[in-house]
Amino acid sequence: MTDRQNSTTPRKILVLGATSGIAEATCRIWAAQGASFFLVARNAEKLAAVAADLKTRGASFVDTAIADLDDTDKHPALLAHAINSLTGMDVAYLAHGILGDQTHAEQDFNTAAQIIHTNFMAPVSLVTWLANFCVQRRSGTIAVLSSVAGDRGRKSNYVYGSSKAGLSAFLDGLRNRVDREGVKVVTIKPGPVRTAMTAGMPKSEKFADVDAVAEAIVKAVAKGKDTVYVPFQWRGIMFVVRHIPERVFKKLNL
Ligand SMILES: NC(=O)c1ccc[n+]([C@@H]2O[C@H](COP(=O)([O-])OP(=O)(O)OC[C@H]3O[C@@H](n4cnc5c(N)ncnc54)[C@H](OP(=O)(O)O)[C@@H]3O)[C@@H](O)[C@H]2O)c1
Repeated sequence: MTDRQNSTTPRKILVLGATSGIAEATCRIWAAQGASFFLVARNAEKLAAVAADLKTRGASFVDTAIADLDDTDKHPALLAHAINSLTGMDVAYLAHGILGDQTHAEQDFNTAAQIIHTNFMAPVSLVTWLANFCVQRRSGTIAVLSSVAGDRGRKSNYVYGSSKAGLSAFLDGLRNRVDREGVKVVTIKPGPVRTAMTAGMPKSEKFADVDAVAEAIVKAVAKGKDTVYVPFQWRGIMFVVRHIPERVFKKLNL
């Protein structure tokens, strides 16, 4: 353990979807604490830039792999290689995801299926392997970016929202299974955050700052929280949204 680390500082971190804006900001904080990383992303150029940046910020070790995470058949070999390279794993951080085109998905099942595959099926495949690895060792934290959008389906993004609802429910059940085995499952539910995913959306300048969101995520992972809303105000907002009676809700434009 280095001077920059304490007992709750993750040392070996596997990041799936490492070029995500939220993941990058989170990893910058962990890098300054001297963490080691195995980074997975599908865009080689962006991935190389993130890896170089984390090294300059203090990461002890950075290795990378290029992978399209939609390809679930390749997950077992990819994850085994990553953990071998890191010589273990304290934290797996799943950050990849797509918003998709809701309007198109309303008309075309294949578009909806693609959103659900990337945001739900692929994480289920990754997390199933990772959870069994952690249970065998009776340690490890699996932190996953879900979304407040999964708390209640809305007309503006119910395909994306349902993929995240499925993911959040899966993580609830997994936590219930593995917590007693010494494995932490942290469900992270961001509200709207200023990243590439939300660029150009109306009022995006009012969305949460990615560095503030990253700080909250680092704290939640260190504490091994169960479900965390970031920024925290979204817990209250979604409580209200979930409790709006259906006869009122179905008339709203949310
Ligand atoms: N930003 C928000 O407001 C917000 C709110 C709630 C939840 N979230 C969730 O937070 C996570 C991170 O989002 P973000 O805001 O950081 O967005 P982002 O910057 O657009 O990052 C999304 C990342 O997912 C990667 N990705 C998508 N499909 C992939 C695949 N098949 N294989 C490998 N990588 C893939 C993208 O890679 P490329 O760069 O190669 O496309 C990109 O790096 C997502 O799960 C998102 O749903 C975001």
